[in-house]
Amino acid sequence: MISTETIEKPKVVSNMLLKGKKGIIVGVANKWSIAWAVAQACMREGAEIGFTYQGERVLRNLEKLFKEANLNDPFSVNLDVTKDEELAQASEEVRKKFGNIDFFLHAVAFAKREELGGEFVNTSRDGYHLAQDVSSYSLIALAKAFKPLMEENGGSIVALSYLGGERVVKNYNVMGVAKAALESTSRYLAYDLGSKNIRVNIVSPGPIKTLSASGIDDFSKMLEHFRTVAPLKKNVTAEEVADTCMFLFSDYSRAITAETIYVDCGYNTLAM
Ligand SMILES: NC(=O)c1ccc[n+]([C@@H]2O[C@H](COP(=O)([O-])OP(=O)(O)OC[C@H]3O[C@@H](n4cnc5c(N)ncnc54)[C@H](O)[C@@H]3O)[C@@H](O)[C@H]2O)c1
Repeated sequence: MISTETIEKPKVVSNMLLKGKKGIIVGVANKWSIAWAVAQACMREGAEIGFTYQGERVLRNLEKLFKEANLNDPFSVNLDVTKDEELAQASEEVRKKFGNIDFFLHAVAFAKREELGGEFVNTSRDGYHLAQDVSSYSLIALAKAFKPLMEENGGSIVALSYLGGERVVKNYNVMGVAKAALESTSRYLAYDLGSKNIRVNIVSPGPIKTLSASGIDDFSKMLEHFRTVAPLKKNVTAEEVADTCMFLFSDYSRAITAETIYVDCGYNTLAM
């Protein structure tokens, strides 16, 4: 039997599906970030991309990535999604640079290390609020900040969630509850913003090794279990997730909103 791990990857060529579009990517921390793969897929398809970064340390990582990818000093702006003044500032900077935008990616999540393992019943009030603020409320905050830049021509918003928001996944704990809120938030936003032709969707990937994921207890065991049982018998790559986000930013998805799309090799369909 041929294992799907050994099948040569399809060569993805550019079809310029996002030609003429401008978008903002929120959530690149380093080269393993899913958001970095999404940015690359969007640029491959002809979009002009701007980035936000959380603080100077992340900016230095971004600059290294830009250099390695031969990008000529793309637009970037500092943004901590929990700070209203930085949201207003970022929106203003983006407006000055791009005028209107066509899309943005929300790839932001955070919980205290100690909340991502052990017994969920011990979740602290502080830890709960922090996870919700950074990982869920931030979608509302970003939509509010960037709405004026998308109202004229319509737009597309994509946020990244995880199956742990719908089902119990060991150790995901407080982040699962934040993802449940994020998914519900996306549907309320889709309802609100639909009349402006602004679409809001969730992409729900299987586990991928990134900086955030490494904070979850036993993450490598999750990866191993996933590739053993998922229908496609492999782990998901950031590039596979990125192409789905790119599709949702493109006009080919123009009637899709308030939807959750799984990019998880079929894992979410399993009972046993
Ligand atoms: N890696 C996985 O297995 C996986 C699976 C499903 C969903 N996701 C989701 O994908 C998204 C991206 O995560 P990733 O795995 O690429 O990890 P990552 O660590 O590369 O990205 C997380 C990003 O969140 C940003 N962030 C955290 N707090 C912030 C704040 N207050 N203000 C602004 N930015 C802040 C970080 O700077 C970082 O860029 C997250 O929402 C995550 O939950 C990841």
